[in-house]
Amino acid sequence: MSDAQTITINGYHLEFEAGETILEVARRNSIDIPTLCHLKGTTPTGACRICVVEVEGARSLLTACATPASAGMVVQTESPKVVEARKLILQLMLSSGNHNCAVRGSDDSDWTRFQLQVHGDDGSDELCPVWGDCRLQDLAYRYQVSGESFAGTETRYPMETVNPFIVRDFSRCIQCGRCVQACNEVQVNNAINFGYRGPDSKIIAAGDRPLKDSDCVFCGECVQVCPVGALVEKDVRYDIRQWNTEKVRTTCSYCGVGCQLNLHVQDNKIVKVTGVEEAEPNHGSLCVKGRFGFNFVGSDERLQAPLIKENGKFRAASWDEALDLVADKLKGIRDTHGGDALGVLTSARVSNEENYIANKFTRAVLKTNNIDHCARL
Ligand code: SF4
Ligand code: SF4
Ligand code: SF4
Ligand code: FES
Repeated sequence: MSDAQTITINGYHLEFEAGETILEVARRNSIDIPTLCHLKGTTPTGACRICVVEVEGARSLLTACATPASAGMVVQTESPKVVEARKLILQLMLSSGNHNCAVRGSDDSDWTRFQLQVHGDDGSDELCPVWGDCRLQDLAYRYQVSGESFAGTETRYPMETVNPFIVRDFSRCIQCGRCVQACNEVQVNNAINFGYRGPDSKIIAAGDRPLKDSDCVFCGECVQVCPVGALVEKDVRYDIRQWNTEKVRTTCSYCGVGCQLNLHVQDNKIVKVTGVEEAEPNHGSLCVKGRFGFNFVGSDERLQAPLIKENGKFRAASWDEALDLVADKLKGIRDTHGGDALGVLTSARVSNEENYIANKFTRAVLKTNNIDHCARL
């Protein structure tokens, strides 16, 4: 192992490739360095500083996510100085905004006043909607800190609830910028960015308009990457808790890309969908249909049986009756007018095998080459 390619992290001598950050080398070697703002595959911003590490000879702590590994570097990821810095960062985050989960300790009267205020702002008597599924809360437990060390700051911006799929709760935003990175660098939708300055800072769409009046396409990428409760699916806010849901992996049926999904199922009902981050082809990204278009699965309005129209009205029929009717009609048209009087349109929402069968049926049975597919458009 040549020294030119070696870094030492927590006493382990580790090889690295040019361009790798300290964080990447650490993670590749199963050394845990906590992150909040870091979003894999995007430009590091160094916004949160929770990933700071101590590097021998450096004048200050360095962010592991933004600092390239260099030969001979000696790094400590959990030294007393590092832990102290992380505690301070977490305390500051927890004491700004409505972080009313179990980690926000204070004297009893203040706690009550604080909770009442949060409940008022939130319109709910419960703790945060992402309680138990929050990176900030996890880290607060890990480093044993609460939000009581600093006076809480007032919530500056009201919650944005007018959007069809997403609630934006600025009172729980820690300004990590992951949503901005996800929107601009992963999805390349460029719908949101940092706005205003200093304590007025806020993630905004152009003109500080609600997402529904912006370039947002409601892909929900920002919701998936938000480490806290600032961006939450609107339909199920407060209705689901992570420990009550089960994840079921599947393939999206909306188009032929084949995005990998996790269906979050509670009481045998799909309540939320997320992309599978470690799987091709989508690596966690989804479009609006894949992420939010799942209510039809459990809808009462779904057809339960084939319908046949008689005298202008539909009636339920058995599959045998419906298929016999369709077969008779198709055969009648083919035999009377020839196969080219028929045409078949297939769909990207069925499998390749089903499309292949449709192709065979059209050419071999209906005797026409009139077949097309929506994905060709
Ligand atoms: S966003 Fe996280 S840290 Fe803040 S209240 Fe909710 S669970 Fe707690
Ligand atoms: S939903 Fe998609 S397009 Fe809209 S702000 Fe979030 S990442 Fe950007
Ligand atoms: S909305 Fe979420 S992802 Fe975006 S900056 Fe705030 S905390 Fe970070
Ligand atoms: S994770 Fe490195 S600065 Fe935020």
